[in-house]
Amino acid sequence: MKILVTGGAGFIGSALIRHILTSTSHSVVNLDKLTYAGNLDSLDNVETTERYYFEKIDICDAYKVAKVFDDHAPDVVMHLAAESHVDRSIEGPDEFIKTNIIGTFNLLEQSRKYYSGLSSARKKLFRFHHISTDEVYGDLAGKDDFFVEETSYSPSSPYSASKASSDHLVRAWGRTYGLPSVITNCSNNYGPYHFPEKLIPHVILNALRGNQLPVYGNGLQIRDWLFVDDHVKALLTVVTKGSVGETYNIGGHNEKTNIEVVEMICDLLEELAPVKPAGIDSYKELIEFVKDRPGHDARYAIDASKIQRELAWVPEETFETGLRKTVQWYLKNSIWCERVLSGAYRLERIGVEK
Ligand SMILES: NC(=O)c1ccc[n+]([C@@H]2O[C@H](COP(=O)([O-])OP(=O)(O)OC[C@H]3O[C@@H](n4cnc5c(N)ncnc54)[C@H](O)[C@@H]3O)[C@@H](O)[C@H]2O)c1
Repeated sequence: MKILVTGGAGFIGSALIRHILTSTSHSVVNLDKLTYAGNLDSLDNVETTERYYFEKIDICDAYKVAKVFDDHAPDVVMHLAAESHVDRSIEGPDEFIKTNIIGTFNLLEQSRKYYSGLSSARKKLFRFHHISTDEVYGDLAGKDDFFVEETSYSPSSPYSASKASSDHLVRAWGRTYGLPSVITNCSNNYGPYHFPEKLIPHVILNALRGNQLPVYGNGLQIRDWLFVDDHVKALLTVVTKGSVGETYNIGGHNEKTNIEVVEMICDLLEELAPVKPAGIDSYKELIEFVKDRPGHDARYAIDASKIQRELAWVPEETFETGLRKTVQWYLKNSIWCERVLSGAYRLERIGVEK
Protein backbone atom coordinates (compact mmCIF):
# COMPACT_ATOMS: atom_id res chain seq x y z
CA MET A 1 0.00 0.00 0.00
CA LYS A 2 1.22 3.55 -0.75
CA ILE A 3 0.33 6.01 2.01
CA LEU A 4 0.28 9.76 1.45
CA VAL A 5 1.17 11.29 4.84
CA THR A 6 0.77 15.06 5.23
CA GLY A 7 2.84 16.70 7.96
CA GLY A 8 5.27 13.78 8.02
CA ALA A 9 8.18 15.95 9.16
CA GLY A 10 6.37 16.91 12.37
CA PHE A 11 6.34 15.19 15.75
CA ILE A 12 3.59 12.60 15.20
CA GLY A 13 3.96 12.40 11.40
CA SER A 14 7.66 11.51 11.64
CA ALA A 15 6.92 8.86 14.29
CA LEU A 16 4.25 7.45 11.97
CA ILE A 17 6.63 7.33 9.00
CA ARG A 18 9.43 5.76 11.04
CA HIS A 19 6.97 3.12 12.23
CA ILE A 20 5.54 2.40 8.75
CA LEU A 21 8.94 2.11 7.10
CA THR A 22 10.55 0.00 9.81
CA SER A 23 7.61 -2.28 10.71
CA THR A 24 5.54 -2.72 7.52
CA SER A 25 6.09 -3.12 3.78
CA HIS A 26 4.01 -0.01 2.88
CA SER A 27 5.46 2.92 0.93
CA VAL A 28 5.19 6.52 2.13
CA VAL A 29 4.89 9.86 0.36
CA ASN A 30 5.61 12.61 2.88
CA LEU A 31 3.96 15.90 1.87
CA ASP A 32 5.19 18.66 4.17
CA LYS A 33 5.72 22.42 3.89
CA LEU A 34 8.52 22.30 6.49
CA THR A 35 7.34 25.08 8.76
CA TYR A 36 9.32 25.76 11.95
CA ALA A 37 7.75 22.52 13.31
CA GLY A 38 8.79 20.31 10.40
CA ASN A 39 12.16 18.69 10.72
CA LEU A 40 13.70 16.21 8.28
CA ASP A 41 16.36 15.30 10.86
CA SER A 42 13.57 13.33 12.56
CA LEU A 43 13.51 11.00 9.53
CA ASP A 44 17.27 10.55 9.27
CA ASN A 45 17.22 6.79 9.79
CA VAL A 46 14.54 6.07 7.17
CA GLU A 47 14.75 8.73 4.45
CA THR A 48 17.15 6.73 2.29
CA THR A 49 14.66 3.85 2.13
CA GLU A 50 13.47 3.34 -1.44
CA ARG A 51 9.86 3.12 -0.21
CA TYR A 52 10.06 6.76 0.96
CA TYR A 53 9.34 9.90 -1.12
CA PHE A 54 9.38 13.50 0.05
CA GLU A 55 7.46 16.45 -1.44
CA LYS A 56 8.04 19.91 0.04
CA ILE A 57 4.59 21.36 -0.56
CA ASP A 58 2.01 23.55 1.20
CA ILE A 59 -1.35 21.73 1.53
CA CYS A 60 -3.00 25.04 0.55
CA ASP A 61 -1.40 24.85 -2.93
CA ALA A 62 -4.12 23.13 -5.01
CA TYR A 63 -2.01 22.70 -8.14
CA LYS A 64 0.95 21.08 -6.37
CA VAL A 65 -1.23 18.84 -4.19
CA ALA A 66 -3.09 17.62 -7.31
CA LYS A 67 0.28 16.87 -8.93
CA VAL A 68 1.30 14.74 -5.93
CA PHE A 69 -1.84 12.63 -6.39
CA ASP A 70 -1.08 12.28 -10.12
CA ASP A 71 2.60 11.47 -9.63
CA HIS A 72 2.28 9.04 -6.72
CA ALA A 73 -1.24 7.53 -6.99
CA PRO A 74 -1.59 6.85 -3.23
CA ASP A 75 -3.91 4.18 -1.85
CA VAL A 76 -4.79 6.14 1.29
CA VAL A 77 -4.27 9.63 2.75
CA MET A 78 -3.29 10.20 6.38
CA HIS A 79 -3.70 13.92 7.06
CA LEU A 80 -1.59 15.25 9.94
CA ALA A 81 -0.29 18.57 8.53
CA ALA A 82 -1.45 21.35 10.82
CA GLU A 83 -0.42 24.30 12.89
CA SER A 84 -0.55 22.64 16.30
CA HIS A 85 0.64 24.88 19.15
CA VAL A 86 -2.13 26.49 21.23
CA ASP A 87 -0.01 29.42 22.46
CA ARG A 88 0.99 30.30 18.89
CA SER A 89 -2.68 30.16 17.85
CA ILE A 90 -3.52 32.74 20.52
CA GLU A 91 -0.69 35.05 19.40
CA GLY A 92 -1.43 34.70 15.67
CA PRO A 93 -4.44 32.69 14.51
CA ASP A 94 -4.02 33.42 10.76
CA GLU A 95 -1.81 30.46 9.89
CA PHE A 96 -4.11 28.15 11.85
CA ILE A 97 -7.10 29.23 9.77
CA LYS A 98 -5.12 28.90 6.53
CA THR A 99 -3.49 25.52 7.12
CA ASN A 100 -6.00 23.75 9.34
CA ILE A 101 -9.17 24.89 7.59
CA ILE A 102 -8.32 26.06 4.04
CA GLY A 103 -5.53 23.48 3.74
CA THR A 104 -7.82 20.64 4.82
CA PHE A 105 -10.51 21.88 2.43
CA ASN A 106 -7.97 21.86 -0.41
CA LEU A 107 -6.71 18.38 0.46
CA LEU A 108 -10.29 17.10 0.57
CA GLU A 109 -11.04 18.60 -2.83
CA GLN A 110 -7.92 17.11 -4.42
CA SER A 111 -8.66 13.76 -2.75
CA ARG A 112 -12.23 13.85 -4.06
CA LYS A 113 -11.09 14.54 -7.64
CA TYR A 114 -8.46 11.82 -7.42
CA TYR A 115 -10.90 9.33 -5.84
CA SER A 116 -13.50 9.87 -8.57
CA GLY A 117 -11.00 8.64 -11.18
CA LEU A 118 -10.02 5.43 -9.32
CA SER A 119 -11.08 1.93 -10.41
CA SER A 120 -13.81 0.36 -8.27
CA ALA A 121 -11.26 -2.01 -6.70
CA ARG A 122 -9.04 0.90 -5.64
CA LYS A 123 -12.07 2.92 -4.49
CA LYS A 124 -12.88 0.16 -2.00
CA LEU A 125 -9.43 0.50 -0.43
CA PHE A 126 -9.20 4.30 -0.44
CA ARG A 127 -9.43 6.16 2.88
CA PHE A 128 -9.06 9.81 3.86
CA HIS A 129 -7.88 9.57 7.46
CA HIS A 130 -8.06 12.89 9.29
CA ILE A 131 -5.91 13.06 12.42
CA SER A 132 -7.46 15.37 14.99
CA THR A 133 -7.38 16.24 18.66
CA ASP A 134 -9.54 15.79 21.76
CA GLU A 135 -9.33 19.58 22.19
CA VAL A 136 -12.26 19.93 19.75
CA TYR A 137 -14.51 18.79 22.63
CA GLY A 138 -13.51 21.72 24.87
CA ASP A 139 -12.88 20.76 28.47
CA LEU A 140 -14.50 18.67 31.20
CA ALA A 141 -15.87 20.27 34.35
CA GLY A 142 -16.14 17.08 36.41
CA LYS A 143 -13.49 14.67 37.64
CA ASP A 144 -14.99 11.39 36.40
CA ASP A 145 -16.47 12.18 32.99
CA PHE A 146 -14.77 11.40 29.67
CA PHE A 147 -14.88 12.54 26.06
CA VAL A 148 -16.71 9.97 23.95
CA GLU A 149 -17.09 10.05 20.17
CA GLU A 150 -20.57 11.61 20.55
CA THR A 151 -19.45 14.46 22.85
CA SER A 152 -20.54 17.84 21.41
CA TYR A 153 -17.84 20.06 19.99
CA SER A 154 -17.00 23.10 22.12
CA PRO A 155 -13.47 24.25 21.23
CA SER A 156 -11.80 26.95 23.37
CA SER A 157 -8.72 28.16 21.46
CA PRO A 158 -8.12 29.27 17.87
CA TYR A 159 -6.16 26.00 17.45
CA SER A 160 -8.96 23.72 18.64
CA ALA A 161 -11.60 25.76 16.76
CA SER A 162 -9.63 25.38 13.53
CA LYS A 163 -9.27 21.62 14.10
CA ALA A 164 -13.00 21.36 14.90
CA SER A 165 -13.73 23.13 11.59
CA SER A 166 -11.53 20.68 9.73
CA ASP A 167 -13.30 17.70 11.36
CA HIS A 168 -16.65 19.10 10.18
CA LEU A 169 -15.31 19.51 6.64
CA VAL A 170 -14.10 15.91 6.56
CA ARG A 171 -17.50 14.60 7.75
CA ALA A 172 -19.28 16.76 5.16
CA TRP A 173 -17.05 15.49 2.33
CA GLY A 174 -17.84 11.96 3.44
CA ARG A 175 -21.57 12.50 3.65
CA THR A 176 -22.06 14.78 0.62
CA TYR A 177 -19.49 13.45 -1.84
CA GLY A 178 -19.06 9.91 -0.56
CA LEU A 179 -15.33 10.37 0.11
CA PRO A 180 -14.47 7.38 2.36
CA SER A 181 -13.17 9.06 5.48
CA VAL A 182 -12.29 8.22 9.07
CA ILE A 183 -11.44 10.65 11.88
CA THR A 184 -9.40 10.07 15.01
CA ASN A 185 -9.37 12.43 17.99
CA CYS A 186 -6.39 11.89 20.25
CA SER A 187 -5.26 13.19 23.61
CA ASN A 188 -1.90 14.91 24.30
CA ASN A 189 1.06 13.06 22.83
CA TYR A 190 4.60 12.96 24.18
CA GLY A 191 7.80 11.16 23.25
CA PRO A 192 11.05 11.53 21.25
CA TYR A 193 11.47 14.20 18.54
CA HIS A 194 8.86 16.52 20.11
CA PHE A 195 9.52 20.16 19.20
CA PRO A 196 11.05 21.76 22.30
CA GLU A 197 8.31 24.41 22.75
CA LYS A 198 5.84 21.77 24.03
CA LEU A 199 5.50 21.14 27.78
CA ILE A 200 7.48 17.92 28.28
CA PRO A 201 10.59 18.63 26.11
CA HIS A 202 10.51 22.28 27.23
CA VAL A 203 10.72 21.23 30.88
CA ILE A 204 13.45 18.62 30.27
CA LEU A 205 15.68 20.99 28.30
CA ASN A 206 15.17 23.98 30.59
CA ALA A 207 15.90 21.92 33.68
CA LEU A 208 19.14 20.64 32.16
CA ARG A 209 20.19 24.25 31.49
CA GLY A 210 19.21 25.42 34.97
CA ASN A 211 16.45 27.68 33.59
CA GLN A 212 13.10 28.35 35.27
CA LEU A 213 10.36 25.76 34.61
CA PRO A 214 7.26 27.86 33.92
CA VAL A 215 3.91 26.26 34.90
CA TYR A 216 0.68 28.01 33.87
CA GLY A 217 -1.66 29.19 36.68
CA ASN A 218 -1.87 26.74 39.58
CA GLY A 219 -0.62 23.82 37.45
CA LEU A 220 -3.75 21.79 38.21
CA GLN A 221 -4.96 21.52 34.60
CA ILE A 222 -5.39 17.83 33.75
CA ARG A 223 -4.21 16.26 30.48
CA ASP A 224 -4.52 12.65 29.33
CA TRP A 225 -1.08 11.65 27.99
CA LEU A 226 -0.33 9.12 25.25
CA PHE A 227 3.11 7.94 24.15
CA VAL A 228 3.54 8.89 20.49
CA ASP A 229 4.48 5.36 19.34
CA ASP A 230 1.20 4.07 20.79
CA HIS A 231 -0.65 6.79 18.87
CA VAL A 232 0.93 5.91 15.52
CA LYS A 233 0.10 2.22 15.99
CA ALA A 234 -3.52 3.25 16.61
CA LEU A 235 -3.48 5.39 13.46
CA LEU A 236 -2.24 2.53 11.31
CA THR A 237 -4.89 0.26 12.83
CA VAL A 238 -7.64 2.77 12.02
CA VAL A 239 -6.55 3.45 8.44
CA THR A 240 -6.35 -0.26 7.65
CA LYS A 241 -9.22 -1.67 9.74
CA GLY A 242 -11.47 1.25 10.71
CA SER A 243 -14.98 1.57 9.27
CA VAL A 244 -15.72 4.32 6.77
CA GLY A 245 -17.58 7.27 8.29
CA GLU A 246 -16.53 6.40 11.86
CA THR A 247 -14.72 8.46 14.47
CA TYR A 248 -12.36 6.87 17.00
CA ASN A 249 -11.12 8.51 20.18
CA ILE A 250 -7.54 7.60 21.10
CA GLY A 251 -6.12 8.06 24.60
CA GLY A 252 -3.83 6.52 27.14
CA HIS A 253 -5.88 6.72 30.37
CA ASN A 254 -2.95 8.62 31.83
CA GLU A 255 -4.56 11.64 33.45
CA LYS A 256 -2.04 13.89 35.15
CA THR A 257 -2.06 17.50 36.32
CA ASN A 258 0.56 19.67 34.64
CA ILE A 259 2.40 20.14 37.94
CA GLU A 260 2.51 16.36 38.46
CA VAL A 261 4.09 15.97 35.02
CA VAL A 262 6.71 18.63 35.74
CA GLU A 263 7.55 17.05 39.12
CA MET A 264 7.81 13.57 37.57
CA ILE A 265 10.29 14.92 35.00
CA CYS A 266 12.31 16.54 37.80
CA ASP A 267 12.40 13.21 39.68
CA LEU A 268 13.56 11.33 36.58
CA LEU A 269 16.27 13.93 35.96
CA GLU A 270 17.49 13.59 39.58
CA GLU A 271 18.03 9.89 38.80
CA LEU A 272 19.24 10.06 35.17
CA ALA A 273 21.13 13.39 35.17
CA PRO A 274 22.26 13.85 38.79
CA VAL A 275 25.00 16.35 37.90
CA LYS A 276 23.06 19.61 37.88
CA PRO A 277 23.85 23.10 36.56
CA ALA A 278 25.87 25.28 38.96
CA GLY A 279 23.94 26.63 41.92
CA ILE A 280 21.06 24.13 41.65
CA ASP A 281 20.46 21.66 44.49
CA SER A 282 17.24 20.15 43.16
CA TYR A 283 15.52 20.41 39.74
CA LYS A 284 12.21 21.11 41.49
CA GLU A 285 13.51 24.43 42.81
CA LEU A 286 13.38 25.69 39.20
CA ILE A 287 9.56 25.38 39.07
CA GLU A 288 7.88 28.77 38.69
CA PHE A 289 4.12 29.41 38.48
CA VAL A 290 3.32 31.98 35.76
CA LYS A 291 0.18 33.83 34.58
CA ASP A 292 -2.36 31.37 33.19
CA ARG A 293 -3.01 30.98 29.45
CA PRO A 294 -6.24 32.78 28.38
CA GLY A 295 -9.14 30.33 27.91
CA HIS A 296 -7.04 27.52 29.41
CA ASP A 297 -8.96 24.21 29.40
CA ALA A 298 -9.25 22.61 32.85
CA ARG A 299 -9.37 18.90 32.07
CA TYR A 300 -9.20 16.56 29.09
CA ALA A 301 -9.86 12.84 29.45
CA ILE A 302 -10.55 10.37 26.67
CA ASP A 303 -12.76 7.30 26.71
CA ALA A 304 -10.88 5.08 24.22
CA SER A 305 -13.11 2.03 24.69
CA LYS A 306 -14.51 2.13 21.12
CA ILE A 307 -11.13 1.63 19.41
CA GLN A 308 -10.25 -1.02 21.98
CA ARG A 309 -13.54 -2.89 21.50
CA GLU A 310 -13.84 -2.61 17.71
CA LEU A 311 -10.22 -2.60 16.54
CA ALA A 312 -8.42 -4.27 19.48
CA TRP A 313 -5.99 -1.36 20.00
CA VAL A 314 -4.63 -0.68 23.48
CA PRO A 315 -1.63 1.46 24.45
CA GLU A 316 1.53 -0.43 25.39
CA GLU A 317 3.20 2.25 27.51
CA THR A 318 2.14 3.58 30.90
CA PHE A 319 2.95 7.23 31.56
CA GLU A 320 5.80 6.13 33.84
CA THR A 321 7.48 3.90 31.21
CA GLY A 322 6.87 6.32 28.33
CA LEU A 323 8.13 9.35 30.26
CA ARG A 324 11.31 7.50 31.26
CA LYS A 325 11.98 6.62 27.58
CA THR A 326 11.32 10.24 26.61
CA VAL A 327 13.69 11.74 29.18
CA GLN A 328 16.37 9.19 28.21
CA TRP A 329 15.92 10.12 24.52
CA TYR A 330 16.38 13.85 25.19
CA LEU A 331 19.46 13.16 27.30
CA LYS A 332 21.01 11.19 24.41
CA ASN A 333 19.93 13.53 21.60
CA SER A 334 21.08 16.99 22.60
CA ILE A 335 22.42 17.49 19.05
CA TRP A 336 18.94 17.07 17.55
CA CYS A 337 17.59 19.63 20.05
CA GLU A 338 20.38 22.14 19.39
CA ARG A 339 20.02 21.86 15.60
CA VAL A 340 16.24 22.32 15.78
CA LEU A 341 16.37 25.23 18.22
CA SER A 342 19.30 27.09 16.64
CA GLY A 343 17.94 26.86 13.10
CA ALA A 344 21.19 25.15 11.97
CA TYR A 345 19.10 22.27 10.66
CA ARG A 346 16.96 24.55 8.48
CA LEU A 347 19.94 26.38 6.97
CA GLU A 348 21.76 23.16 6.18
CA ARG A 349 18.92 21.01 4.88
CA ILE A 350 16.44 23.41 3.30
CA GLY A 351 18.45 26.59 2.89
CA VAL A 352 16.29 28.88 5.04
CA GLU A 353 16.72 30.44 8.44
CA LYS A 354 14.39 29.36 11.24
N1 LIG B 1 0.80 16.71 19.42
C1 LIG B 1 -0.31 16.29 20.00
O1 LIG B 1 -0.33 16.09 21.23
C2 LIG B 1 -1.55 16.00 19.19
C3 LIG B 1 -2.62 15.36 19.80
C4 LIG B 1 -3.74 15.05 19.04
C5 LIG B 1 -3.79 15.38 17.71
N2 LIG B 1 -2.74 16.03 17.13
C6 LIG B 1 -2.84 16.35 15.70
O2 LIG B 1 -1.88 15.54 15.03
C7 LIG B 1 -1.34 16.25 13.93
C8 LIG B 1 0.18 16.28 14.03
O3 LIG B 1 0.55 16.94 15.24
P1 LIG B 1 2.07 17.20 15.60
O4 LIG B 1 2.14 17.38 17.06
O5 LIG B 1 2.92 16.19 14.94
O6 LIG B 1 2.30 18.61 14.89
P2 LIG B 1 3.66 19.33 14.52
O7 LIG B 1 3.40 20.79 14.68
O8 LIG B 1 4.81 18.72 15.22
O9 LIG B 1 3.86 19.00 12.96
C9 LIG B 1 3.04 19.55 11.97
C10 LIG B 1 3.69 19.27 10.61
O10 LIG B 1 2.82 19.83 9.60
C11 LIG B 1 3.62 20.56 8.69
N3 LIG B 1 2.79 21.65 8.13
C12 LIG B 1 2.29 22.73 8.78
N4 LIG B 1 1.61 23.51 7.93
C13 LIG B 1 1.66 22.89 6.71
C14 LIG B 1 1.13 23.20 5.44
N5 LIG B 1 0.41 24.33 5.22
N6 LIG B 1 1.35 22.35 4.41
C15 LIG B 1 2.09 21.21 4.60
N7 LIG B 1 2.63 20.87 5.79
C16 LIG B 1 2.41 21.71 6.83
C17 LIG B 1 4.78 21.10 9.52
O11 LIG B 1 5.90 21.43 8.68
C18 LIG B 1 5.05 19.92 10.44
O12 LIG B 1 5.95 19.01 9.85
C19 LIG B 1 -1.99 17.63 13.92
O13 LIG B 1 -3.03 17.63 12.99
C20 LIG B 1 -2.51 17.78 15.34
O14 LIG B 1 -3.66 18.59 15.36
C21 LIG B 1 -1.62 16.35 17.84
